[in-house]
Amino acid sequence: MKPFISVTDARRRARRALPSSVFDVVDGGSDDEVTMRRNREAFEGWSVSQRVGVEFDRADLTTTLHGNPLAAPVVFAPCGLTGLVHPDGELAVARVASRRGTLAMFSTFSTHSLETIALAASGPKWFQLYFLGGRAGADQLVARAETAGFTGLVITLDTSVVGNRERDLAHGISYPMERDVGTVARLLPQLMRHPRWLGRFLRAGLPMDMGNASDPGAARDRRAASDMAAGMFESPPGWPDVERLRERWGGTLVVKGVLDPRDARRAVELGADVVVVSNHGGRQLGSAMGTLQALPAVVAEVGDSVEVVLDGGVRRGTDVVKALALGARAVAIGRPYLYGLGVGGEQGVEAVWSVLVDGLARDMRLAGCPSVRQLSGEWIQRCPEPRSNEPSAMRR
Ligand code: FNR
Repeated sequence: MKPFISVTDARRRARRALPSSVFDVVDGGSDDEVTMRRNREAFEGWSVSQRVGVEFDRADLTTTLHGNPLAAPVVFAPCGLTGLVHPDGELAVARVASRRGTLAMFSTFSTHSLETIALAASGPKWFQLYFLGGRAGADQLVARAETAGFTGLVITLDTSVVGNRERDLAHGISYPMERDVGTVARLLPQLMRHPRWLGRFLRAGLPMDMGNASDPGAARDRRAASDMAAGMFESPPGWPDVERLRERWGGTLVVKGVLDPRDARRAVELGADVVVVSNHGGRQLGSAMGTLQALPAVVAEVGDSVEVVLDGGVRRGTDVVKALALGARAVAIGRPYLYGLGVGGEQGVEAVWSVLVDGLARDMRLAGCPSVRQLSGEWIQRCPEPRSNEPSAMRR
């Protein structure tokens, strides 16, 4: 596989490699995609300090995340239904994370079961919990994750209902996804324009099930799985669940989907070890804040007591620099690795990680900062607001 020039290049190539319905499931946001765009714009609003003449060969990218050593401060965010993109899905992510010395979070909505993923991931792995099958179902998932060796439990709180993803609606896709004849027939013409993707998908037996919807070894029952997914929205997790799960879970407890410092404070009071500043990649509440915009207030509120991770719109080494300079311990990526997965499976995921982390190493040298652990407010300044009469091409 040809290496990626950038994450933007990975996205461009994924757009060609995937049927448009699958690309849009990955690439799309909610409503007018304002939140998704704000994630990117928030990065553009800051500049990185440049110190010259500093002598060092290679910046030290290593750090830790709640005690887990990381080769670089970039981890994998949990994404559901990766099997639509490539049948290896989460297994590819697990292998790349292990090989590259980073941590990965895996979704309840994974295509592969958490037990299968655990076997593929020799590095640190966290399980992201949705209440599939209600509270009783969630308790079973937590027990399974513990047995399988996941050391972190990630409770995503921003998904009480699915966001309004209009690109999916335009393709006739709704959640929980159904493998009904009508949908397949409607999408068939565009699927057939991507014979490599289609061949892989057919050979793998149409991997669009949720691997966690049944106990390991039990026969897959699609109707039951779909009822369980529907049940998830009848009892989405709230703060009392965080409290209850804190008592039950001995490992790292992570609350994901926080933008407001009051929620960050609440998570910490209830015993969270890590807070993920996230708006779900702009796929949930329309017109929410960009995550980098939300980060400083969250760090000011809880940064002394817990580690903060940021996700949403991280596409360049300088984005990582900015998030860390504003107090994040690490960043997580979602779409970038899904683009890579769509282009080249496991190799593609690795190529995305490389292009981002090599970029970070280069940017650290150019900025003159020898270690990611030294990044602080000194390394970043707010850009002046662009003058509104400037041509937009000059602003980009
Ligand atoms: C997600 N995300 C997500 N989050 C989560 O907690 N559980 C999940 O099952 C999913 N599923 C999911 C599917 C797809 C296709 C995408 C793109 C995203 C959100 C994800 O963890 C992360 O917050 C965002 O992807 C980060 O933004 P970027 O990196 O995609 O811009």
